[in-house]
Amino acid sequence: LLQHVKTNVESLFTCLPPRPKLFDFHGVSMTKCFTDNWDNVQNVKARPDDILIATYPKAGTTWVSQILDLLYFGQTSPERQSSIPIHMRVPFLDLCRPSQPTDLVDQLPTSPRLIKSHLPVQFVPKSFWEQNCRIVYVARNAKDTAVSYFHFGRMNMFQPEPGEWSSFLQHFIQGEVVFGSWYDHVRGWWEKKQTHSKLHYMFYEDLIEDTGREIDRLCSFLGLSPSAEERERIRGAVQFDNMKKNKMTNYSTVPSMDLKVSSFIRKGKVGDWKNHFTVAQSEQFDEDYKKKMKNTTLQFRTEI
Ligand code: A3P
Repeated sequence: LLQHVKTNVESLFTCLPPRPKLFDFHGVSMTKCFTDNWDNVQNVKARPDDILIATYPKAGTTWVSQILDLLYFGQTSPERQSSIPIHMRVPFLDLCRPSQPTDLVDQLPTSPRLIKSHLPVQFVPKSFWEQNCRIVYVARNAKDTAVSYFHFGRMNMFQPEPGEWSSFLQHFIQGEVVFGSWYDHVRGWWEKKQTHSKLHYMFYEDLIEDTGREIDRLCSFLGLSPSAEERERIRGAVQFDNMKKNKMTNYSTVPSMDLKVSSFIRKGKVGDWKNHFTVAQSEQFDEDYKKKMKNTTLQFRTEI
């Protein structure tokens, strides 16, 4: 079955058109590969024990996916981590096509199923709410997210052409990037947290600051109690350098990504934005940020 899933993911990655164009989809910038199969994604049948890992792109999705996969399956099926790339262990809901053989989510042979999504909260298929699924949302500060997204666009053929940094940054500010506005995304999910008690909202900066503490918080949300030894093993396995050299987490197996242009697991820092933003860009960004992020209790750290 896992081989079947692998083959299907590989075929999915070869059938998407390179360098797609963005267009407005119900108020959110998207590309065709995420909207072509809209009804299929919306009609996905969630199960009550599914765990959705929801993020705006580049917030640390892969990092948290690997942590959850190790927490659930690290002991029972270690061969999973050593032989199956992360994007197959934790498939991407937004690309799933239930009516086609590339239906990754339905074919997932695990319980719970770990499923990743970049959808803004209003686009999440209704069955996840009906089944009252647990959701882990990861957020990362806007400036580092923008930088990481820029480099991802350079190396991944399934992203629109990012252009120069200065123009990409303007597009990011305007929400003209795949999955739309960062501001709307993090705020929409933050508001959802106030009513959906099974939503754990976490921050990339906190994970950098103290990975062990964040693993503990995840465990208490999920009702897991790994041994101290197991928790330490996981903490070590998900350190940046280990995930960067691990072929099952560094995306070196995905043909659309050119790791010679930029690594997927690239720098893993809080504050890399300082190496990209000019003073003028930072000031313009901050001014716009204040307007967009007023009236929210959501706070981000851009350095630690
Ligand atoms: P950078 O490009 O800033 O390095 P996503 O998985 O959501 O696409 O996010 C990718 C970002 O998370 C990249 O950021 C990547 O380096 C970072 N990342 C992945 N694994 C990490 C880890 N173990 N520790 C710190 N950062 C990590």
